[in-house]
Amino acid sequence: MRALLFHSYGGPLGVEEVPDPVCAPGQLRVRTLASSVNPIDWKLHSGALRLVRPIARPTIPGLDVVGEVLESQDPGFAIGQRIVARIRELPGGAMAEQCLVGADVAVALPEGISVEDAAALPLAGMTALQGLRDDCGLLLPGGGKSRRGSRSASEPGQEGEHRDDARRILVVGASGGVGHYAVQLGRIAGAHVTAVCSGRRAELVRSLGADEIIDYREQDDFRSGAPYDIVIDCAARAPWSRFREVMAPRSHMSQPTPTPVWLLHFALGTFSGKKPHFTRLVPNAEDLGLLIGHVAAGRMRSVVGARFPWTELAAAWALNQAGGTEGKIVLTF
Ligand SMILES: NC(=O)c1ccc[n+]([C@@H]2O[C@H](COP(=O)([O-])OP(=O)(O)OC[C@H]3O[C@@H](n4cnc5c(N)ncnc54)[C@H](OP(=O)(O)O)[C@@H]3O)[C@@H](O)[C@H]2O)c1
Repeated sequence: MRALLFHSYGGPLGVEEVPDPVCAPGQLRVRTLASSVNPIDWKLHSGALRLVRPIARPTIPGLDVVGEVLESQDPGFAIGQRIVARIRELPGGAMAEQCLVGADVAVALPEGISVEDAAALPLAGMTALQGLRDDCGLLLPGGGKSRRGSRSASEPGQEGEHRDDARRILVVGASGGVGHYAVQLGRIAGAHVTAVCSGRRAELVRSLGADEIIDYREQDDFRSGAPYDIVIDCAARAPWSRFREVMAPRSHMSQPTPTPVWLLHFALGTFSGKKPHFTRLVPNAEDLGLLIGHVAAGRMRSVVGARFPWTELAAAWALNQAGGTEGKIVLTF
């Protein structure tokens, strides 16, 4: 098969002929139909994470995948079926004509969801879900099982219905991959969502369900919708002090981008009762199935801001680094 490999940290990405991957028990071998860009892909490639997340090289990147099953070593999946997944093992392997996917992280792709919309969803969508629900206690209708157990709910409810437990949420980086799903989950939970994005994305973010917009190019504080019960930072630009000042007592914050300074805040917690959490995605089929269900029912959508042929991954990464698009960048095969 043809695959996109890099041989060293920061080295060039090139298409090479490599053997087809060998499927082990519990795995699926799929023909790749689409993938999408996540910042961790190019951070792993650059070597910036080599101390905490070293990867073997040469290697094939790509964590999100939609594929057609060519071989199944799991009774739950049949040949010819279409699946969507966030591959568990870093750095993935989706940037190839075929890849391996653990059956425990795969979900059957329902009719009616496009391959591109599905490919955008797994990593970014599950990060938003786990950050808001598991780390910050957002109550979602049919919310699924929380990794932390105690702070999620699974009662049925109606989208947009403002319940007694509805909360005020701040989503920073609201037009990006994680952020645009976070805004929609906030709306589904019936919360009041304040979204921080650049003005050029305001209309889009409002259409996803934001109640208030803060244009970070015009305003350098988050006070408009404060005090917030839940904060998720999908931009990784502002320090803890900027968030702490707008958070309600006993509120929670999800931070998916841990710098050394943030690690200190996570470890110490805070004496103010405002708690920052490191949100580290745990890929699993249950959460992905929940999100796919929201998309299938029309409650949530993927925003695909750009598409590239998979062999042009370097250009797609460069666009993501430059922040030149909205939502997700999808790789087509
Ligand atoms: N720990 C984990 O498991 C995990 C999982 C997923 C993601 N992450 C991390 O989470 C971060 C976000 O990921 P992503 O996929 O959402 O990235 P992304 O798609 O690149 O989105 C980031 C967004 O931030 C916005 N932005 C830039 N400067 C800003 C500022 N000063 N204030 C507010 N917003 C600003 C940009 O939107 P505009 O166009 O409006 O400027 C951009 O769309 C990345 O650092 C990623 O590595 C971690």
